[in-house]
Amino acid sequence: MEVNLENILKKIEDFFQYQSELNVPIYLPEKFLEIINQQIKLNTQFIDSFLSKISEPFVGAKSLSELDSLINKCVKCSLGNLRKNFVFGVGNPNADIVFVGEAPGADEDEQGEPFVGKAGKLLTETLSTLGFRRDEVYICNILKCRPPNNRDPLPAEVEKCEPYLLKQLSLIKPKIIVALGRIAGNTLLKKNETLSNLRKNIFNYYDIPFFVTFHPAAILRNPNWKRDFEKDLEIMKEFYLSLAEKKKVL
Ligand code: URA
Repeated sequence: MEVNLENILKKIEDFFQYQSELNVPIYLPEKFLEIINQQIKLNTQFIDSFLSKISEPFVGAKSLSELDSLINKCVKCSLGNLRKNFVFGVGNPNADIVFVGEAPGADEDEQGEPFVGKAGKLLTETLSTLGFRRDEVYICNILKCRPPNNRDPLPAEVEKCEPYLLKQLSLIKPKIIVALGRIAGNTLLKKNETLSNLRKNIFNYYDIPFFVTFHPAAILRNPNWKRDFEKDLEIMKEFYLSLAEKKKVL
């Protein structure tokens, strides 16, 4: 078995299981506790506690594909009756980085996959200049169905759809989240800030480090911002690598 953090945690879990079956007091060395604490901090206890208050079948999904099959017929809001395709999300189910846009556009609605139009192509290219493949990260949207004429998501739509995103995050357990664009950032953070203010900070979304950068469509409209977009993503990569580095030391 490869020695990495996931496997160490699996072993700790098995150890816990074994001790509780034997009904003996549980003893864990300090270092293990540190690792567990950090995992909990970087993972999803706040999301899980939010989801535990919802009594719907999707909350119990054990995988992204099961979740998709439980929610992709959703008609909780009117967008459900307007869509061609439900746009669940794509990428690595164990991704460390999740990119979140606001809602599918026409291309995405047509193909059932997020960020596949011109903006998506730019996102994929920018990721690859930073050394990330599209299938290595996870990409999704707050809303899973396209709003008419690409209008901004309405609060009532977000209220219905955000729990699906939370469940995705709870299954993926990313180390960082990157919101693409002011609307996605403000919507999830429940703020009303300018993009430049949002870009200056690292926020906390259900205890997961949360960055906001440009929407790739904005870069298409104003290519002068491309370098700033790349710089934002470089900073996120540095932050992400520093987390990975910290874990190796523990
Ligand atoms: N814009 C978004 O916010 N999401 C997509 O999937 C495509 C364009």
